[in-house]
Order: sequence, then structure tokens, then C-alpha cells
Amino acid sequence: MNHHEKFTNLPKRNAEPKAAAMIESFRAIGYSPETALADLIDNSISAGAKNVRIEFIWAGRNSWLTIIDDGWGMAEDEIIDALRPGSKDPDHIRLPSDLGRFGLGLKTASFSQCGRLTVISKKAGSPASHWTWDLDFVRQSGKWEVFQDEIHTNFYEKIPETGTIVLWENMDRLAGNADEEDEESHQNFLKIGESFRKHLEMVFHRYIESGKINLLFNGRKISAWNPFMPGKLPTQVFSEEPLQNGAVILKGYVLPHKSKISEEEYKAGEGPKGWNAQQGFYIYRNERLLVAGDWLGMFRIEEHYKLARIMVDISNLLDKDWQLDIKKSVAKPPHGVVTAIKNYALKVRNQAVEVYRHKGRTIHRNLANEEFKQVWFERKRHGKYHYVINREHPLVKNILDTMPDMRKHLGILLNLIEETVPIPLMIVREREEPESQGRPFESIDHSLLKQLMQMSYDKFISEGKSGERAKELLLLIEPFNQYPEYLEHLTM
Ligand SMILES: Nc1ncnc2c1ncn2[C@@H]1O[C@H](COP(=O)(O)OP(=O)(O)OP(=O)(O)O)[C@@H](O)[C@H]1O
Ligand SMILES: [Mg+2]
Repeated sequence: MNHHEKFTNLPKRNAEPKAAAMIESFRAIGYSPETALADLIDNSISAGAKNVRIEFIWAGRNSWLTIIDDGWGMAEDEIIDALRPGSKDPDHIRLPSDLGRFGLGLKTASFSQCGRLTVISKKAGSPASHWTWDLDFVRQSGKWEVFQDEIHTNFYEKIPETGTIVLWENMDRLAGNADEEDEESHQNFLKIGESFRKHLEMVFHRYIESGKINLLFNGRKISAWNPFMPGKLPTQVFSEEPLQNGAVILKGYVLPHKSKISEEEYKAGEGPKGWNAQQGFYIYRNERLLVAGDWLGMFRIEEHYKLARIMVDISNLLDKDWQLDIKKSVAKPPHGVVTAIKNYALKVRNQAVEVYRHKGRTIHRNLANEEFKQVWFERKRHGKYHYVINREHPLVKNILDTMPDMRKHLGILLNLIEETVPIPLMIVREREEPESQGRPFESIDHSLLKQLMQMSYDKFISEGKSGERAKELLLLIEPFNQYPEYLEHLTM
């Protein structure tokens, strides 16, 4: 018995979906306005478009959105097919240039935001044509039926030589039932427009950067927002790691500390969600961003790691493996590669936390293999960790040496400080409000620091060291190593 015969003799009843109910549930797939729009731009890119114009026009309840592309377009039958839910088999192998998968996006993304979807398209050698889905009509008729209505505006003139226009009307979720004069709704609409722009800048940044596509939003060019801030001063780039026979590539970046870049650069780096929320993995499927900053359940978002961003490139051959979702906003690594990805991320995260804590300054720990003089040591005592002040630190040693009578008292004082370091309080504070934890010598007058530096310098000189050598030695002393720029102010 073959596969088909297995079912031939069984009793059967029709259980087709009810159009109205089904289409209504398409509305609840969970697109945000931004992911919905991006899904339609995917279609334009897949159709070979080079220029895509988006118009998002306020007119109260009559507001509308159009996406006009100069891709290869569709003949009339193809428009109908495109409007059919499930127009393509998700199992079909698709070209790398095809960003689609399920044969649903056009419909689900559109219905998530509007009640009326019209596709106007023209293919080389065929006349332009248009067809419309209208949810009100489907609700009334209960039928899976598109229709052809007059279109009021001059869309047929707007269409390029070949290409497609997607039109959203009755945008109940974006403009609601507002009057055109309703200023609050208008402002809200403009805000959505701004987040459209930001989202597209991010999702398609590689297409924009490589010049594969030009995006215009209400007449203004959409620029690329690259989460890895290429060419930006001291960004640290990790070497690539291929997985799944090279179908997946990891590449880690640790972005520069705030103090290392200009205010503008810092602001530009923050992206749509802000620095903290943009940490983590960036999953690209054929160069189109699916996941923008997420630790994929492997780690929590934490302030200390906000400089870590890891590029994960996957190809559309792995859609099933990585559980791509309809909205193209979720992808999950398969079990087989989770550990490798996690290990790679650990390396990048460790580096990110270093940069975060040390403000990205270079630490001259190993200069000429000489010992670095830090202020605090971690020591183990009866199996437990304690923090002790380095008696050999030049500033400490100096005081102890110059006041031999006070040596005992100073020792007691140092002990007292060591035993009462408020570790629990520091830990809680660091965890709860890491950004509010002051760093050494932050926001105080640095004249004391400079004075200490000068004193130590004088001492080296008095011991017969050359100026050059004295400066070298200063860089081996905490905290002077953090402020190499002050070396210039030293006087003999
Ligand atoms: N702008 C366009 N230009 C040309 N053809 C298009 C355009 N938009 C959609 N199509 C055609 O309609 C089909 C259905 O589009 P739809 O977005 O619903 O599904 P998909 O892109 O195939 O897959 P997915 O559900 O993953 O988006 C596409 O496969 C394509 O053939
Ligand atoms: Mg699609």
C-alpha cells in the first residue's frame, strides 16, 4: 500500500477554513508595524528591485501606505497567486536572493496593519493590473475572494517600467478612526513613521551599504545603520568562526567605550533600542537582519556586556534548522551548535566587560616584563577570598618607609580598611544600577592624582632615574597607568 492508498477508503468530511475567521486570525500573528513593513520590502528585494519608495501619508482614517518597487513585477495571474495565502510551498528551495519562505508574508504582514490590501503590478510584456483584498468584504461574503475596484489615485502612472505597488488602506492599526485634524493621532502616526525609518535602516543596512538597494521613505533616503560601527576607532573585531560546514559564520565585535568616541558617535551607535538592549547576537539571513541584539536565552541582558555585539550569518538553506518564523523576526540555533555559539560568545563577552570596566584604556601591565604595581590584591585565607592592600605599591611603601614610628599604626589602619571593604553593598549596587557605580577618580578634581604622580616622579628622579625611565615606571603603577595623558604635565 503506498502513501496515498492509505487514505482512500477512510470516511471524510470537508473542514476547509472559514475565510472570515481565518483572515481575522492572520491579523494576530504578532507583527509590529516595523516587522510588517520589512516583510514587504523583502518581497521587493526578492523581485530584483533596485529602488523602493515608501510613502506613508497621513489623512486621518483615510491614511495610506504604499511601497513602490522597480522589481520585475507580476502579470495578472501572478498577482492573484501572490495574494493567495500559502502561495508557495515552504519546502521549496529558494535562491539566496529570495528572502521569502512561507508564501504568506504579503498577506499576513499587510492584514496585521490594515483592512485593505491592493497589489498593482506590471511585468515586462504584460499590461499593468491590480487586485484587492478587503477584510470587510471577506467578513461579509465569507469567501476567499479578491476583487478589482477602481483605484482613485494615479497609481498606474507611478509604476515604473516594470515593478509593483503594494497599497495599504483602512489602516485601523496605524491611523485608527481618527479625523485628519486630530493632532494627537497625527503625532502618533509620525512617530510610527520614524520607527519605520529606524527599523529599515537597521534591517537592510547591508543591502544599503553595498548599494544593492536604494530605499526612500517619504522622499528621504534611508541610510544604513550598522550595529558594528565599522571604521569606528577602537572597535575590537574577533576572528570569524564557521559552523555547520560554513553555512553559519560567527563574528564578534566589542564596541569602543563611551569615553573613546565622540558624543555623536556614541549616540549613533545606540540603535533603535538603545545601547543596553542592542547587545547580543545579530542574526542575518542572506544579509537581511532577523534578530537585532538578543542573547537567545543563553545569557541575560546586562549593562556590563552592552559593548558586545556578535554577527551571526546564516543562509536561507537553514531556515528549518533555525526555526525561522513567518514574521522573519525569530531564529533559533539548532541544538548541535548552541554550545559552540555560547563558547564563542563567552570570549566576546569577557572582552566586552574588560573594555566596559577599564573605559577602554590600555593597561600597561607587561611593559618590559616588569611587575605591575596594583593597589589591591585578591588573596585566599582559609579557603576564602579577601582583598588586601599591596604594601609594595610605591605610594603605600613610600608612606610606610618615611614614617617608621607610625608603621604599626598605619598597618592597623590598612588592616581595618581591608577587613571592612563593603563588598556586599558594592555587589548589590553593581548589579542593580551598574551605570551609577562611580569608577576610580570619576567626576572629581584630578589635581590630587596629578600631584601624586608628580611626587612619585620626583622620587624616581631623586633616585637617579632618567625622565624617560621614570615615566615608564609610572605607567606600571595603578592608577597612573590609566592616565598616560598626564605624563606630559610632569615637571623635572
Ligand atoms: N513586490 C513584489 N514583486 C514581485 N513579486 C512579488 C512581490 N511581492 C510578492 N510577490 C510574489 O508573491 C509571492 C507571495 O509573497 P509573500 O510575501 O506572501 O510570500 P513569500 O515572499 O513567497 O514568502 P514569505 O511568506 O516568507 O514572505 C512571492 O513569492 C512573489 O512571487
Ligand atoms: Mg514575502
